[in-house]
Amino acid sequence: MNTDNSNSNDNNVRNIKRRTQALNSTNPISLRALTILIILFFTFIPHTALKTPPPLPILPLPSAPQLQWQLSSMALFLHFGPNTFTDSEWGTGHANPSVFNPTRLNASQWVHVAEEAGFSRVILTAKHHDGFCLWPSEYTDYSVKASPWRNGKGDVVAELATAAKEAGVALGLYLSPWDRHENCYGKTVEYNEFYMGQMVELLSRYGDIKEVWLDGAKGEGEKDMEYYFDAWFSLIRQLQPGAVIFSDTGPDTRWIGDEAGIAGSSCWSLFNRSDAEIGGTDPQYSQAGDPYGHDWVPAECDVSISPGWFWHASEVPKSALKLLDIYYRSAGRNCLLLLNVPPNSSGLISDEDIQVLQEFKELRRSIFSDNLAKNAMLNASSIRGGNDNSQFSPYNVLEDGIYTYWAPEEDQSDWVLYLNLQESLSFNVLQVQEPIHMGQRIIEFNLEILNGGGWKKVINGTTVGYKRLLQFPTVQSQYLKFVISRSRADPLISFLGIHMDRFSILSYASGITSQAHVNGSQVLQQFSIATDTKVLNVVCFDRAAKVIFGCSAQQFFDFATLHPYAAKNASNALVGEMFRITLSKPKRGNAEHLRMTSVVPLRSGFQPVIETLKDLYGVIYGAEGSGGFM
Ligand SMILES: *[C@@H]1O[C@H](CO)[C@@H](O)[C@H](O)[C@H]1NC(C)=O
Ligand SMILES: *[C@@H]1O[C@H](CO)[C@@H](O)[C@H](O)[C@H]1NC(C)=O
Ligand SMILES: *[C@@H]1O[C@H](CO)[C@@H](O)[C@H](O)[C@H]1NC(C)=O
Ligand SMILES: *[C@@H]1O[C@H](CO)[C@@H](O)[C@H](O)[C@H]1NC(C)=O
Ligand SMILES: *[C@@H]1O[C@H](CO)[C@@H](O)[C@H](O)[C@H]1NC(C)=O
Ligand SMILES: *[C@@H]1O[C@H](CO)[C@@H](O)[C@H](O)[C@H]1NC(C)=O
Ligand SMILES: *[C@@H]1O[C@H](CO)[C@@H](O)[C@H](O)[C@H]1NC(C)=O
Repeated sequence: MNTDNSNSNDNNVRNIKRRTQALNSTNPISLRALTILIILFFTFIPHTALKTPPPLPILPLPSAPQLQWQLSSMALFLHFGPNTFTDSEWGTGHANPSVFNPTRLNASQWVHVAEEAGFSRVILTAKHHDGFCLWPSEYTDYSVKASPWRNGKGDVVAELATAAKEAGVALGLYLSPWDRHENCYGKTVEYNEFYMGQMVELLSRYGDIKEVWLDGAKGEGEKDMEYYFDAWFSLIRQLQPGAVIFSDTGPDTRWIGDEAGIAGSSCWSLFNRSDAEIGGTDPQYSQAGDPYGHDWVPAECDVSISPGWFWHASEVPKSALKLLDIYYRSAGRNCLLLLNVPPNSSGLISDEDIQVLQEFKELRRSIFSDNLAKNAMLNASSIRGGNDNSQFSPYNVLEDGIYTYWAPEEDQSDWVLYLNLQESLSFNVLQVQEPIHMGQRIIEFNLEILNGGGWKKVINGTTVGYKRLLQFPTVQSQYLKFVISRSRADPLISFLGIHMDRFSILSYASGITSQAHVNGSQVLQQFSIATDTKVLNVVCFDRAAKVIFGCSAQQFFDFATLHPYAAKNASNALVGEMFRITLSKPKRGNAEHLRMTSVVPLRSGFQPVIETLKDLYGVIYGAEGSGGFM
């Protein structure tokens, strides 16, 4: 974790080696020169041996569980229960327990899917609003005990806890305060006793629990009662000191304030808990946090892979590209992305969802595994402890993780990192990380490139935090400048990456929201009428029968049919693969209906023609009509 010591020791060893070599090569050597060298050698040592201490952290700071939580970046949410079988979202609490019968339930599969897709945490709805318990609670009959599943002897929480432990995946549990089944709901003292009794069961029977998720949802006109949050929080701390507590307002992690998984473009982990109320979220305050906040309460962005939170036979998952967009605006904005992937009524995560998760992972891998700045020469406006101090060297920003960082000298007016990429490169994504164990500092920054003799601003940003991702239209340059213009204290940078995203179109099409209202078939007609054939270079975002070139097969076939010969190439397409497709007006039949007559793979390295890609997507997503893509 902390490589500072070993690094600088290595450097000292290297320095000494270099000096020894210098001595050896001074041959023949006069006694006087040798004496001088020896004196230099010994006067030099104390200077290199003493390290400059790190700067003071700036309050508020994360606790150890909060830090561990944030470093995991993403968690998988598992909504599961009677709703899975009754095609509902908010069960009434009166569904017969006999509906719950996931005959093929395999919690290892859930964990395996999470792991494979790059998620190291899972959170299960142990009890949703309907009050049904996925473990055999001793305080109610409304649980797995009363179901036919495993003859009433099953325990979903236990099975998941075992699977997660085996895989080294962190487990979180959701225990809904709102309970539509329990009779004592509405009687403050009785229900708080009941709820805390259930909490003790969950937090004492299943090993380490890393997160407790308290949903603030409550139906309109529901019985009025008080939840004893302070007592609940203390109980959770006593039983599971390593767990983070989620609610609308923390104490450890806050709700982002929407169910689209989108954070504000400024997003502070700082927050005033006293200025917020559980169940009365001000979305703007939650999405942005508070640069003056005195509590450390980073945000969690929850969103579902499908329209609903529970599995429904009729629903299809979002495309991998859509998930990538959400990732940029959640994990890429200093938050944890909590992606819901609900197991189906067989008790397994559906193939369609697994497919999308794998494609989502593949997109992230292909964009972020390569830092185009990895071979850059770096230099900074200043370095803490002096220009030779490797401990706070700008090169630290090329190392993964937050524990090594560049720090400027104190009391500077400029904070700049210069990068020479050694060759001119194209890129459209910036990644920045702050060492948040030292507090969140940066208020405003920008990226500039040297272009035709002058520096040109590429993108401005506000707030960094654990991780900030920013997209912009593709630029090309050899020289970059990362400038921090405002900061709560001396800014520290632990990672800086530049990347090429060949898949997203949003960054090129800021006006796509308005396009989303265009009638798709009209747009397609416009360009098909102008020319008989249209050749487009596209990137395949999603594979499988259901999703072709980023739109659903249904949507695609509404506009263009796929020639059987072309279909073969299309169905073998891999995510990230580039194709040249030809859309042609059919010679017979419906002249308004285009046909995709060829789908020819292009060699890697070929740049998709962004404008036409945008056109194509404008068309496809226009068909949704709801602006759903943004
Ligand atoms: C459960 O899922 C795991 C992981 O996918 C798999 O290895 C195992 O064979 C499955 N068990 C059963 C009984 O299907
Ligand atoms: C949060 O608290 C700080 C004082 O600790 C205060 O300066 C700031 O204005 C508060 N934020 C809001 C939104 O009230
Ligand atoms: C649930 O998903 C599995 C794939 O993991 C699939 O075999 C099964 O048919 C699905 N069940 C339903 C009801 O769709
Ligand atoms: C950065 O490097 C250039 C050339 O190597 C040098 O001229 C400049 O002084 C350096 N800047 C700083 C702030 O050290
Ligand atoms: C960055 O902000 C400045 C003003 O602060 C503005 O002039 C400039 O156009 C912005 N640049 C970009 C790329 O957004
Ligand atoms: C879109 O345009 C087509 C053709 O002009 C028309 O038939 C259809 O009704 C339009 N759809 C909507 C939602 O406006
Ligand atoms: C399918 O791809 C191959 C190259 O792999 C190409 O030669 C062929 O023309 C393509 N077929 C169609 C119908 O696009």
